[in-house]
Amino acid sequence: MKSILLLMGPNLNMLGEREPEIYGSATMQDHIEDAERVANDFGYELVHFQSNNEGDLVNQIQNARGRHIGIIINPGALTHYGWSIHDALVAYEGVIIEMHLSNPNQRESWRHTSVVAPVADGSIIGFGIQGYELSIRAFHQIIENDDK
Ligand code: DQA
Repeated sequence: MKSILLLMGPNLNMLGEREPEIYGSATMQDHIEDAERVANDFGYELVHFQSNNEGDLVNQIQNARGRHIGIIINPGALTHYGWSIHDALVAYEGVIIEMHLSNPNQRESWRHTSVVAPVADGSIIGFGIQGYELSIRAFHQIIENDDK
C-alpha cells in the first residue's frame, strides 16, 4: 500500500487547547483520524509524526525518501524560518503539500513568509478542520494527474 507521511511541527500537539479561537477545538488526534479516513478511502496508508524539534522533522523528511510517495506538512511556526526543513524538502522526490489550519496571510506580518511554500507542490491554508482532508484530496489529484 502506498503511504503518505503527515508531518506536524511545534505546538500542533496542543491543538484543542491552544488558541481555539484560531485553531478550533479539534485535537491533533481528531485531525489525524479525519486525514486517515480520507487517505484510506483513496487507498493510501497514512503515517503521522509530530515534533516540537526542527531536527526531528528534518530526519523524518530524509527518511521519507523512497518510502512515502508524499508528505503533507504543517510545520507550525517553522514554516516562517525553518530553512533546514526547506532544504530537506528540496531533496525529497515525492509530492509535497503545505498545510495550515489558519490563514497566516491574514495574521501578523512575520507569518506572511513561508519558506516551505516555494518547495511545495501546493498549499492548503485557512480551511481549519477541513484542511487535512482537503490536503489528502489535493495530494490524490496530483498523483492521479502526473504519476509522480
Ligand atoms: C499554523 C500557522 C503558523 O503560523 C503557526 O505558527 C502554527 C500553526 C497553522 O496551522 O495555522 O503553529 O501552521
